[in-house]
Amino acid sequence: MKIAPFSTEHFYARYEFSTPYQLCNSDCETVTISELLALAEIAIEEFGQLALGYTETLGHPQLREQIAESYAHTSSDDVIMLGTPVEGIYLVARAALDPGDEVIVLSPAYDALIHMFEHVVGADKVRKWEFTAGGHEWVLDIQQLNRLITPHTKMLVVNFPHNPTGYLPTQEQFSEIVRIVERNGLLLFCDEMYFGLVHSGTLAIKSAVELTQEGVFERMAAEVPEPLYSQALDYLEAWGSVMSGLQ
Ligand SMILES: Cc1ncc(COP(=O)(O)O)c(C=O)c1O
Repeated sequence: MKIAPFSTEHFYARYEFSTPYQLCNSDCETVTISELLALAEIAIEEFGQLALGYTETLGHPQLREQIAESYAHTSSDDVIMLGTPVEGIYLVARAALDPGDEVIVLSPAYDALIHMFEHVVGADKVRKWEFTAGGHEWVLDIQQLNRLITPHTKMLVVNFPHNPTGYLPTQEQFSEIVRIVERNGLLLFCDEMYFGLVHSGTLAIKSAVELTQEGVFERMAAEVPEPLYSQALDYLEAWGSVMSGLQ
């Protein structure tokens, strides 16, 4: 089964570096390495001592530890370092889903959040939870979500802050989504690529991992036969050949 074309990337390949005035983007303004080091209060000479090379398979233990510390209820065992986010989307789809499972994806979505799941369970098993258009803003229709859930639904895929609409739910809405996920025994895959970004005047929302008692990743680990990270490890090994197979 082929992965559907990544239209967003095709668009950027054509226009991103040749258009004088770019009015859309799929990433944030970045910082320079000097600015990053200044934020971390590390001297460039100290950074220069860092040797590049393979580290432990799941990622550098110190980095995993530090990432885990930024969330409540997580330990470094819940954290895997990957090359890119899209790799994580694919690994989760492979590790957590079985044939016959249905997935609900908040749509429209960043292409990979639909295509990777379609690739793994089949396009007919991926149901779209569509934003509805309000007067001046996008609206989340919670009743529509409830209607999409069937006895075969295994996972809900969301992305907040959302690409491409920029939608940010209120903390109450997000908690309601988590309650629906828990009530129906689903897994919640929340892509937090833009975590912390807010519109002026709006409040940042908590990470999905902080909204359930056990934490989303621990829930996933409890529901797949082996801890998610050890399954993902197998796919991680296979990733190189998958990528070259797709060329
Ligand atoms: C919602 C979302 N997730 C993930 C990514 C990043 O994916 P990658 O850098 O692996 O292409 C993006 C990039 O635009 C995104 O918008």
